[in-house]
Amino acid sequence: MVIKPEDYYDAETFARLKTFSDQHDTPFMVLDSKTFTRQLDELIEAFPYAKTYYAIKANPMPELLRILRDRGCCFDVASRYELDKVMAEGVTGDRISYGNTIKKPKDIRYFYEKGVTLFATDSEADLRNIAKAAPGSRVFVRILTEGSETADWPLSRKFGCQTDMAMDLCLLARDLGLVPYGISFHVGSQQRDIGAWDSAIAKVKVIFERLKDEDGVNLRMINLGGGFPANYISRTNDLKTYAEEITRFLREDFGDEFPEIILEPGRSLVANAGLLVSEVVLISRKDRTSLHRWVFTDIGKFGGLIETMDESIKYPLFVEKKGETEEVVLAGPTCDSADILYENYKYELPLNLAMGDRLYWFSTGAYTTTYSAIEFNGFPPLKSFCI
Ligand SMILES: Cc1ncc(COP(=O)(O)O)c(C=O)c1O
Repeated sequence: MVIKPEDYYDAETFARLKTFSDQHDTPFMVLDSKTFTRQLDELIEAFPYAKTYYAIKANPMPELLRILRDRGCCFDVASRYELDKVMAEGVTGDRISYGNTIKKPKDIRYFYEKGVTLFATDSEADLRNIAKAAPGSRVFVRILTEGSETADWPLSRKFGCQTDMAMDLCLLARDLGLVPYGISFHVGSQQRDIGAWDSAIAKVKVIFERLKDEDGVNLRMINLGGGFPANYISRTNDLKTYAEEITRFLREDFGDEFPEIILEPGRSLVANAGLLVSEVVLISRKDRTSLHRWVFTDIGKFGGLIETMDESIKYPLFVEKKGETEEVVLAGPTCDSADILYENYKYELPLNLAMGDRLYWFSTGAYTTTYSAIEFNGFPPLKSFCI
């Protein structure tokens, strides 16, 4: 499959990224803030009734945090370190949720002292810690959902609890003096099946109704998580279609009076705004008659492309050379044999590709810089720039 820049960036954007790239040594990731802003505006327009809590784990560049801050967005924060980053940009605690269900009591306290009063939970022990360290706060309970087979980067069993337990936790929250505020879920990152939200919202409706009818508890918020699409090799519906369908699911279950709706997008906002540039270090064949070459490049799993694990995320890969192509195995530069990017899914690259040529990895603005190792084999973390 031949990748064309025009399928991923408009001509002006690609020219801007390319001009910048030509002046820097590889490997690095450059992020186009204009594209990020446009995608944010599109999301806000597609979900006019929802509040956006940006999942800062996807990419915490200060330039992006400032754009979000100025657009009035909120932030889904997973650790005290992310909290410090967001607050350093002047964001106040009332615009932040502590979205990680796994946290230490002293970190809960740290958030509370900074003015954060919205916490995710999915277990009794964590809920009791929140009640002690952040008394009176609002909590939302994360439920397990289906959809891991249709998500490119599933979040599966690690987070969330079953419906019955979610209801028990809401009641316990009330008894502990907290505010049982809502229910959250995440249908899996890069979720291709929009129907995954349908079944999750239906579960939420049951919880809302049963808690109200049986216990007089009125939940107020649904957190629809992330999972919205970025533009990789395997195509998805566009964001507008996701929004239309999800709005329809909400209307079917909740009528015209929606509870407060929260979104926690990461990938869909920032992936397409990024371009990662690497260089071919070595091209080899394992024997004289081998039908494919190995192409080793100066970025690998440990340099920021960890989402190639199990070949889950297939980044569009562009090279400037044209001509006859051949299937290749793509691998990173480190001394770990796990550092093979794609072996089963065969990328095709031109036969005249040579050492020193550049590889342009499209849609790499999300989950690259943050995953980059700090020193494996002495390689420094992935450089990044924002233009
Ligand atoms: C709690 C939570 N919210 C939101 C996100 C962002 O999801 P996505 O990048 O699919 O938009 C994640 C991703 O891991 C998450 O764990």
